[in-house]
Amino acid sequence: MWIQIAKAAVIIITWAYSLGSSAEEIQLAQLSEGFNAQQKYMASCFACHSTGAAGAPKVGAGMSVEWEPRLEKGLDAVVQNAINGINTMPAKGLCFDCTDEDLRAIVEYMIDSSS
Ligand code: HEC
Repeated sequence: MWIQIAKAAVIIITWAYSLGSSAEEIQLAQLSEGFNAQQKYMASCFACHSTGAAGAPKVGAGMSVEWEPRLEKGLDAVVQNAINGINTMPAKGLCFDCTDEDLRAIVEYMIDSSS
């Protein structure tokens, strides 16, 4: 069921992004070709981070309280934990075709959308 919801969300997001802004494309130039943080989040991270499964910090409006204590160690350290994994958080969040820069962009997307 979660997979179906995630797939539906990816379709909606893909559509929304097809309307997208060129400013965003320029900003994402150093990432993997065709990379889209929101799409990658939905594909790889959403399953755990939308529900808080296994104690994952939740992503979504009003969830900054989940992220503030983690960000006390600095964004770089948080990104590093996403790359290497931490406790039950799997390395690269199971996004094995993500570069380190891609993962940083996804983490920034997750934090931004939790404000
Ligand atoms: C299998 C479930 C699962 C998936 C998939 C997953 N995460 Fe996590 N994530 C967790 C859990 C659980 C934690 C909390 C780990 C802890 O602090 O004990 C976590 C923590 C984190 C943190 C906080 C690290 C810190 O320093 O506190 C970041 C950032 C993060 N995940 C990013 C991601 C990204 C990006 C993806 C997708 C590419 C992803 N996660 C996919 C379960 C998951």
